[in-house]
Amino acid sequence: MCGIVAYVGPKDAAPILLEGLQRLEYRGYDSAGVVVSNKGLKVRKVKGRVADLAKVVPARFKGGLGIGHTRWATHGVPSDVNAHPHLSADERIAVVHNGIIENAAELRAKLEADGVVFASETDTEVLAHLIAHAADENETLEEAVRKTLKSVVGTYGIAVIDAERPGEVVVARNGSPIVLGIGEKEMFAASDVAALVRYTRQVVHLEDGELAVLKADGFHTFASDARETAKEPLTVDWDAGHYDTGGYEHYLLKEISEQPETVTRTMSGRLDERFHVAHLGGLNMDARETRSFRRVKIIGCGSAYYSGQIGAQLIEELARIPSDAEPASEFRYRNPVVDPDTLYVAISQSGETYDTLAAVQELKRKGGRVIGIVNAVGSAIAREVDGGIYLHAGPEVSVASTKAFTSTAVAFALLALHLGRVRDLSPADGRRIVEGLRRLPGQIGEILAQSDKIAELAKKYAGHAGMMFVGRVRGYPVAREGAQKLKEISYVHAEAYPASELKHGPLALIGPDMPTVAIVPDDELLDKNLTTLGEIRARGGQVLMVGHREPSAKLADDAIVIPKNEIELDPILLTIPLQLFAYYAAVALGRDVDKPRNLAKSVTVE
Ligand code: AGP
Repeated sequence: MCGIVAYVGPKDAAPILLEGLQRLEYRGYDSAGVVVSNKGLKVRKVKGRVADLAKVVPARFKGGLGIGHTRWATHGVPSDVNAHPHLSADERIAVVHNGIIENAAELRAKLEADGVVFASETDTEVLAHLIAHAADENETLEEAVRKTLKSVVGTYGIAVIDAERPGEVVVARNGSPIVLGIGEKEMFAASDVAALVRYTRQVVHLEDGELAVLKADGFHTFASDARETAKEPLTVDWDAGHYDTGGYEHYLLKEISEQPETVTRTMSGRLDERFHVAHLGGLNMDARETRSFRRVKIIGCGSAYYSGQIGAQLIEELARIPSDAEPASEFRYRNPVVDPDTLYVAISQSGETYDTLAAVQELKRKGGRVIGIVNAVGSAIAREVDGGIYLHAGPEVSVASTKAFTSTAVAFALLALHLGRVRDLSPADGRRIVEGLRRLPGQIGEILAQSDKIAELAKKYAGHAGMMFVGRVRGYPVAREGAQKLKEISYVHAEAYPASELKHGPLALIGPDMPTVAIVPDDELLDKNLTTLGEIRARGGQVLMVGHREPSAKLADDAIVIPKNEIELDPILLTIPLQLFAYYAAVALGRDVDKPRNLAKSVTVE
C-alpha cells in the first residue's frame, strides 16, 4: 500500500524523506517520489524502487520542508507521471495521498471544464488543483485543505505543502492512517510509525476527520469543523532495530525465528499459576460482565481471520461458549444482526485494515461490545474498540503474517482461559492450559531446529503447480493458514479443505501431480485422519504429513513430526512448520519473499 513521509525542521528534508520511504518499502509499492520546498517546489519521482528515486535526487535538493510517497497504483498505471507528489498547475501546492477519492472523476470533470489541464491519471491530482484554488481564497493552508476536503468523498491520508508557506506541512486523515512524530525543534508525519522511529518515539495518531498543521516548533490538530482537538503523545516501544533483518536473509525468516520470544511476550505477566487464570486487564471488563456473554463472534481478514477460527475453537472448547469467526470484509457488508449478549472480537496485526476497522465501526454504531486483538499499539482499531489484548509481538515487516498469527492464537488461548475460568473450566484444566502455554516457546524452538529438513521438503514439493492442504476441526484453520502462506509468497496454487470434505468433491483433483499436506495431530480424530490419508494414497496422491508421530510409509511419503502439547493448543505449534515450508518453497522458486507481488502489508483501502 502507499506510504507517506513528511518533514519540517532545521535539517535537509530529502535524506530524511528517502530514509523514511525505505522504511515503508515493506508495505509494497510500485513508484516513489519526493518534493522539497526551497524557493519553489523541487520534485523528483520515478516508477520503481526508493533506491531508484535516491539516484535521481540531486545533492542540491536543499530545504527543511518536504513530503515523500511510495505509490501502490489504484487510478492509472505505475509510471513516473502517476507517481506522487502531484502539483497544482501553478506548481504552488504539492500533495501526497494514500487512499481512494471516490468522486475523483466528477471533481476532475468540473476542473477540466474550468480549464485545468491534468498531468496524470490519478485521483490525487484533483486534490492539488482544488487546494490551490482554495489557497487563493483562504488565509491559511490549513483552511484551504479543510475546505477542500469537504468536497471530497472517499478515503485519504494526505500531506500538503505550499511553496508560499515554506515552514509548514498540513496533514489530514480519513480512513487511511497518519501519525505525527514529535522531534526536538522538528516535526515528522508518516502513514506508519516505521518511518519515524529512527528520529523519534513520541507520536500522535490522527483520528478520522482530523487535520494537523506541523511546524518545526510544534503542531496543532483540529477537526473538520475547525474546532481544535487535544492530543496526548504516545511513546512507541519499537525502535529502528526492530525494522532490521537482524542478520537473516529475509524479514520473514527473522519473524518466524522470533516466535519463541514473541509468544512469550504475548503471555508475559498474564498467566496466574495460583488460580490457573489469565489476567487481561485491557479488556476493561469485570467478572460479572465476563460471565454475561452467550456468544463470541470473531472478525478479521486473511490470516487474521484464520487465527480467529483457531480462537473460536479454543473458546468453544475451554469456555463452552458458542463461537465462530467470519471475514470482517464480508461481515461489514451483510447488515449483521448485532446482539447485546455477544462479545465481538476484532483481530488485526496492523490495526489499520480498512475492512476490519469498518466492521468494528458498524458494530459500535449498533451498540455491540467489541474488543480487539491487535499488535500495533495506538492503531485505529486499537483506538476504536472498547478494550482488548495487545500482542506485543513487535513490528511485523514481511507482508506474510507469521509471528502475529501465533501470538494471536496465544492471545485467544488466554481469552478462552479467562472466559472459561469464570464459567465451568475446572482449576485442573486451567492448570493444564497454563502449563501447556508455558511449554510453547521451547517447543517452537524444537520445530525451528528442524528448518534444514523442512527446507529440503519444501524444495522437493515446490515444483508442483498446486498443493492440497487438509485438516480436521482444530487442524482445518491450520490447513487454511498453511495454504495461504504457500500461495501468497511462493505463488504455488494451494487449496485448503476440511479433511472430512475431501471425498465430497476435491478428491477428484488428487493424483500424482497434486500433493497433499495433511495436518494430523494426535487427537481424538487421528483415526479419521489416517483413513483420509489412505484415500489420498489409494489415488496416487503424495502426502506430506504434519503431526506428532512418524506415519507408516503406506500412509505418507514424508512427515514433519512436532512436539506434543495440550490438544487445544496443537494448532499453534502445527502452524510453525507450514510457515517454514512456505518460506523455503518461496526461496527455492526465487520469489520476492518479503514483498510478494500484488500484495501489501496493511490493506488500508476497501
Ligand atoms: C497474511 O499473511 C496476509 N498478508 C493478510 O492476509 C493479513 O493477515 C490481512 O490482510 C490482515 O491484516 P491485519 O492483521 O493487519 O489486519
